[in-house]
Amino acid sequence: MADDKIPVGILGATGAVGQRFVQLLARHPWFEIAALAASERSAGQRYADACKWVIPGDPPPAVGDTVVQPLTPNLPAKLVFSALPSDVAREVEPQFARAGYAVCTNAAPHRAVDDVPLLIPEVNADHLSLIAAQRAVWPGLIVASPNCTITGVALPLKPLDVAFDVRKVFLTSMQAISGAGYPGVASLDILDNVIPYIPGEEEKFAQELGKLLGRVVDGRGVPADIVLSAHANRVPVFDGHTVSLSVGFARPASVADVSAVLRDFRGDEIARGLPSAPEHPLITRSEPDRPQPRRDRDAAGGMAISVGRIRPCPLLDIRMTTVSHNTLRGAASGAILNAELLVATGHVMRK
Ligand SMILES: NC(=O)c1ccc[n+]([C@@H]2O[C@H](COP(=O)([O-])OP(=O)(O)OC[C@H]3O[C@@H](n4cnc5c(N)ncnc54)[C@H](OP(=O)(O)O)[C@@H]3O)[C@@H](O)[C@H]2O)c1
Repeated sequence: MADDKIPVGILGATGAVGQRFVQLLARHPWFEIAALAASERSAGQRYADACKWVIPGDPPPAVGDTVVQPLTPNLPAKLVFSALPSDVAREVEPQFARAGYAVCTNAAPHRAVDDVPLLIPEVNADHLSLIAAQRAVWPGLIVASPNCTITGVALPLKPLDVAFDVRKVFLTSMQAISGAGYPGVASLDILDNVIPYIPGEEEKFAQELGKLLGRVVDGRGVPADIVLSAHANRVPVFDGHTVSLSVGFARPASVADVSAVLRDFRGDEIARGLPSAPEHPLITRSEPDRPQPRRDRDAAGGMAISVGRIRPCPLLDIRMTTVSHNTLRGAASGAILNAELLVATGHVMRK
């Protein structure tokens, strides 16, 4: 273990998102993988034997012989990344926070909890102040990454909200198969098909967008007053969520104004320069047929949201299309950026 790196653990390390964590953390400048944990089915086995690798590339050689641990809060780490299913995360993540670990989670159960920051560093780094209330309950902390689809919506809506005051959002998502984990949706259901229902998804969009674009007042989160109507669809794309959206503003906004605001967005100053932060969190595309998931999901290593087809909307004010990488910005890389922010703000100490 290198002295200057922070030892981290991965909960759910054998799953689709867990594998992304393993791949990204194996070459991270600040963090070093110290423990891999998964279900009782995998615990006690070598990672290479327990894990069916489902993402592009090979598992990092250094982790192949690591023995998978059970999900007990006695891992040799101070920070853990959680890629656990919701029902398991609901139980296990508070156990780790109670034992003093900083938990950066991709799972949904704690996203709506008042004192858990729902975090995208470029959007709402100031929401870290909610952690103060957690400190009264346990020595550790939990910060949550948002739903993968709403991450790709909240990033472009943040600067538009600051500039023009977002009031209404109407969106249709076209979500990749990898968003359902492995083995996920049966091939006989998704090939040659579109499934117009993802359980619980549309409700999460409305709640999480309000929290992300809301404010913290006197230590409490106040959600943004935005009406959202959503249609969530699963489509036969491997990685990359596409969203077509119309946005209504309180203040006048032309296509040129909106394009300029998106193009100039750099995100909250404290997030700039973090190892996983892209220089441009938003990439605006002027071609009539972009963004597309296959061509644009890997923009800035999967960390930038591509925005295109910005045009007037006869129902609301402006229409546009976004593409984001659901297992990178929308999951593992987004949670790693959150962890980097925790280090940069002193919530996780290097020593
Ligand atoms: N996929 C995405 O794009 C995406 C995006 C954002 C958020 N998320 C969220 O991230 C989490 C993980 O998603 P995923 O797609 O990686 O799921 P997944 O492929 O099904 O992996 C689940 C992981 O959790 C472990 N696990 C399963 N049941 C368990 C149990 N009863 N006790 C302990 N560990 C258990 C598995 O270990 P074994 O291998 O030992 O069974 C595996 O390591 C979910 O909460 C999901 O909603 C996913």
